[in-house]
Amino acid sequence: MGQDVRPPEARAARPISRRQIDRLRSAALAGREQGWRPYSKFPVAAAVLTLKGKTYGGAGNVECANYTLTKHAEETAVLAAIADGALLRSDGTTEPTVNRKFIRAVYLASTGKDKITPCGSCRQFMWEFAHHAAVVIMELPAGGEETVPLAELMPKPFGPETLGINDDGSQTPNC
Ligand code: THU
Ligand code: ZN
Repeated sequence: MGQDVRPPEARAARPISRRQIDRLRSAALAGREQGWRPYSKFPVAAAVLTLKGKTYGGAGNVECANYTLTKHAEETAVLAAIADGALLRSDGTTEPTVNRKFIRAVYLASTGKDKITPCGSCRQFMWEFAHHAAVVIMELPAGGEETVPLAELMPKPFGPETLGINDDGSQTPNC
């Protein structure tokens, strides 16, 4: 399927299709196989759907012996998207410009018996790059998924806007 070239608002307004969710799930589960979690033995899978309709699985969670440096599955998936240029907007004729709000959905799955919701730190990280209508899709252990707007998981946010950061990365001083 080609890239979705409609304006971002039109793309965000359209429901995420079953096919897109299935693709997210596959990317998340395949990516998780690349990760590293010898300490928690708790593998987490995540994948990002961008407003342009691209899907990225990260490496799941990647742990570190000092624990605090562990990278969460949501982080590795968002970074996979950024590494592929998801932050850039280009029409092919002009210099690429920054397009901060590239996340349309983040898919999340664990191997535990309960669904996994994103931790507070990941909510904040996803918020940095999420469109205002972005959703978190959580796999349910019994099958199917629960979809929740990220804005609902981030009430009263502190974010780029608080510091006057515009969608193109420029800053309008606000203090
Ligand atoms: N974990 C994630 O990957 N994402 C979250 O949002 C919650 C926690 C990982 C971190 C650690 O490797 C393991 O799950 C147990 O906390
Ligand atoms: Zn997290």
